[in-house]
Amino acid sequence: MDKLISFVLIVTICCICTGGNNPSAAGEIPALKTVFKEDFLVGAALNRRQVNEADPMATAFIAREFNTLTPENDMKAALIHPEWGRYNFTEADKLIAFGLRHHILVNAHTLIWHSQLPAFVMQLRDKDSLQHFFKDHIRVIASRYDGKVYSWDVVNEALNEDGTMRKSLFQRSLGDDYVVQAFQLAGQAAPHTKLYYNDYNIERPGKRAGAIALIRKIQAAGARIDGVGIQGHWHLGKVPFQDIEESILAFSALGIDVMFTELDISVLPDPKGVEGADVNQQKGYNSALNPYVGSLPDSVQQQLASDYEALFRLFLKYRDKIGRVTFWGVNDGDSWLNNWPVPGRTNYPLLFDRQFNPKIAFDRVIALKTGTVTK
Ligand code: XIL
Repeated sequence: MDKLISFVLIVTICCICTGGNNPSAAGEIPALKTVFKEDFLVGAALNRRQVNEADPMATAFIAREFNTLTPENDMKAALIHPEWGRYNFTEADKLIAFGLRHHILVNAHTLIWHSQLPAFVMQLRDKDSLQHFFKDHIRVIASRYDGKVYSWDVVNEALNEDGTMRKSLFQRSLGDDYVVQAFQLAGQAAPHTKLYYNDYNIERPGKRAGAIALIRKIQAAGARIDGVGIQGHWHLGKVPFQDIEESILAFSALGIDVMFTELDISVLPDPKGVEGADVNQQKGYNSALNPYVGSLPDSVQQQLASDYEALFRLFLKYRDKIGRVTFWGVNDGDSWLNNWPVPGRTNYPLLFDRQFNPKIAFDRVIALKTGTVTK
C-alpha cells in the first residue's frame, strides 16, 4: 500500500514537473476562459481539423481553454462561396455544431475581404456583376447564420497603412461606400448578430485615424456597427503598447466594443519589405530567417513572456472596454506564422507549445489574475 501511494505520488510529481501530456486538461492549471471570465471572452482561431475533432485531446483542450472561436479559413469567400450562385456550407455548419456542443461562441470571419476570394470573383469585370455578388454573398451567408453566430467580421482590412482606403477589387468597382453598404446589408440580414470592422495595424496612429473616420462614416449613415477588431499580429520586443492603449481609448470613445481578434507575437526575424499582415505577401525561405528550428532559447522565451504579461496587464486595465481577446491559433504548431510570410519556419507565437503545454508566457498572463507564478 505504501508503495502504491509512493508510486502515485511520484507519477503526480512527474506529471506536474514535465507538464504531462496535457497538464492544462489534467486540471492542475487554471484555464484562460475561467481566469478571465469576469474580464473578456478568450478565444482562438480554429482550423478544419480541430473543428472536425480529429484529435479528441485537442477538442477537450479547446473546450477547456476558450469560450469563443473564429474559423481560421472556412467562412472566407473562397471556401464558402466557391462558384457563382453555389455556396458550400458544410464546414461552416460543422463549426456551428462544434460551438453548440462545447458552449463556445462563434465569431464568423469574414464577409467582405479582398483576400481569399473565389476565382470567379477575381474575374468579374463589370460593376453590376460585382455588386450582385456582393449583395448576394452578404445576404445569403449572414441570414443563414443569424442567431447562430455571435458576431461577424463584416469587413476585413479595408485600409492602407496611411489610413486611406485600400484600392481593393471592391473599392475600385463599388467606390469607398462599399464598407457602409456592407454594414447596411449585414444589419438587415443579421439583426441578432454583432457586426465588426476588423483590420491589422489599426493601433498605429495614421491607420487608426482612417479606421475612426470609417467607423464614423458607417455610424453617420445610420448603419449598425458594434465593434472593432484590432488583429494584433505583433513582433517580439516590439509590441506597440502606447499605440494600443491610445487605440483602446479612441475606439471605445466611438461607443463600440474593442477586441483583439488575431493575437500572436512572432519571435522570428521578418524578411525585408514585409509590412503588416497582408496574407498575399510571400518571401523565399533561407535558414537565417529560421533560427529556432530545434527549440527556443530561454532569453527569447522570457522576452515573449514579458511581452504577453505587459499586453494582458493593459487588457486588464481596460477590461470594461475590451470584449474579447482571440489568439490566432491554439498552439505554436497550428500558427499560420510557421508558413507566413516565409514558408516552412518554426515560430513560437502563442501561449501553448506544440504539445499543448503552457509556456512561461501563459503562466505570467495567468499570474496577473491569480498572483502565482508556476514557472
Ligand atoms: C490566414 C490563415 O491563418 C491562413 O491559414 C491562410 O492561409 C491565410 O489567412 N488576417 C486575417 C486572417 O484576417 O484571415 C488571416 O488568416 C491572417 C491575417
